[in-house]
Amino acid sequence: MPAAVIIGAQWGDEGKGKATDLLAGRIDYVVKFNGGNNAGHTVVIGVEKYALHLLPSGILTPGVTPVISNGVVIDIEVLFEELEALSARGVDVSKLRISANAHVITHYHRTLDKVTERFLGKRQIGTTGRGIGPTYADKINRVGIRMQDLFDENILRQKVEGALDQKNHLLVKVYNRRAITVDEIVSDLLSYADRLRPMVVDTALELHQALERGETVLFEGGQATMLDVDHGTYPFVTSSSATSGGAATGSGIAPNRIDRVIGIVKAYTTRVGAGPFPTELFDEWGEFLRANGHEFGTTTGRPRRCGWYDAPIARYSARINGVTDYVMTKLDVLTGLETIPVCVAYDVDGVRVDEVPVSQSDFHHATPIYEEFPGWSEDISGARTFEDLPKNAQDYVLAIEAMSGARISAIGVGPGRDAIIARHDLLD
Ligand code: GDP
Ligand code: IMO
Ligand code: MG
Repeated sequence: MPAAVIIGAQWGDEGKGKATDLLAGRIDYVVKFNGGNNAGHTVVIGVEKYALHLLPSGILTPGVTPVISNGVVIDIEVLFEELEALSARGVDVSKLRISANAHVITHYHRTLDKVTERFLGKRQIGTTGRGIGPTYADKINRVGIRMQDLFDENILRQKVEGALDQKNHLLVKVYNRRAITVDEIVSDLLSYADRLRPMVVDTALELHQALERGETVLFEGGQATMLDVDHGTYPFVTSSSATSGGAATGSGIAPNRIDRVIGIVKAYTTRVGAGPFPTELFDEWGEFLRANGHEFGTTTGRPRRCGWYDAPIARYSARINGVTDYVMTKLDVLTGLETIPVCVAYDVDGVRVDEVPVSQSDFHHATPIYEEFPGWSEDISGARTFEDLPKNAQDYVLAIEAMSGARISAIGVGPGRDAIIARHDLLD
C-alpha cells in the first residue's frame, strides 16, 4: 500500500485536519513533516471539537501511530500541553514517535520572532509568534538544537552557548532586551529529557520499515503551498517546505515511495497574516464569507482575510505538488449567494496572465478576472452524494474542477467528520 501526502493548496486553513481525520481509519502511520505549532487544525468528531497545533490530526484515530518527523520544529512545552490535554479527553497518545533530528524551539526563538516582527514595522509578516522562523534559521545556519541533543548534557550546553553567543548581542544591543542565560535554557530543556527519551527515535527508519511491511503512511502537511518558503509568496511565507516535496526531505522517505498527493482547497480563499492576495474582498461579501465560514484563526484567533476562489492558484498548486486528487472543503459556506465569482486569470498592468506570476511585483499588481456562476439557496449540509447537490452547486464544482488542474474527489459540506461527499477513492 502507498504513502500519500495531504497538502494545503492555498494559504492554509483549508481543512487539512478534517481530511486527515477522514483518511485516518485506513492508514497505519500519520506523519507531520513540516512546521510546528504555528499550524492550527480543528477536527470535529460528533459533538467533540479538537484543536491540534503540533500533533498530527491523525492522532485522534485509535490504532494509528502518529509521527513528528525531522522537518518539524518542536516547542516541547507545547508538545506536553497538547499530549496532556488529549490524554485527559481519552485520546491514546502513547504511540507518538518523534524524530531525533527534529529541531527544538526555545525561549530565545520565540523572543526573536516577536521582536523582529516588531522591528519590521510596516513590512511585518504577521507571524504566529511561535518562534518558527528563527528556529528554521538556526537549522539552516547550523546552530540549531535537535531533539537528540537533549540526551547529552555536554553537547547541549555547548550548542546553547554557541547559539546564545550571537543572539544575546542581538537581543541586548539591537533589540534592547535582557540577555538569556545558558543555564536557564539548558535546565529547561533537560527537565523534559526523561519523558522524551522513549519517544525519540529514528523515525525515517521506522517509516521505511512500515512501508516495507506494506503498511500505509499518510504525510500531513502544515501550512500550504502559497506559504511554502520556496514556492509561496515570499517573503510573506512560513519558513518550511509545505509542499509535497517537503514530505520527502521532512521525513527521510524517498519521493518515489509517495504515490498519492491530496490537495486540500477551500471553495473560496482565505489568508492569515500579511502578503499579496488578489481575490481578497474588503466589502460585505468578505464579511459574508468570514461570518458563514467562521474564518477566525485556530492558532491566533485573528480574523482571516477572505476572498473568492482563485483558479490560477489551484492550478499552480496542482503543478508544484503533483496533486492527484483535490478535496474541496466548505462548499456549504457559499450557500445563499446569488452569483459566485471565480478568478480565472489575472490582469497584470493591462495584460491577461493565466498563471501565478513568478515576479513578486507582478503578483502584487495582479487583479482578478472573474467569471460568475449562479448560486444556490438550498441547505446542502445533508448532501452525501454529488447528485444530492442542487444543479448550480454541481455546476460550480465541475467548472472549478475543469480549471484547477486535478479532479475534485471529495467535497466538504460541513465541519463534521461525516459531512463529506466522496466522488473518487483518494488512496486509489
Ligand atoms: P487546517 O489548518 O487546514 O487543518 O484547517 P483549520 O482547521 O484551520 O480550518 C478549517 C475549518 O473549517 C475548521 O474549523 C473545520 O472544522 C472547518 N471545516 C472543514 N471542512 C469544512 C466544510 O466542508 N464545511 C464547513 N462549514 N467547515 C469545514
Ligand atoms: P495551518 O496548518 C494559516 C502564516 C502566518 C504568517 C506566516 C508566517 O493551520 O494551515 P510563521 O509563524 O509560520 O512564521 O508565520 O504564515 N501561517 C499560517 N496561516 N494557516 C497556518 O497553518 C499557518 N501557519 C503559518 O499567519 O502570515
Ligand atoms: Mg489551520
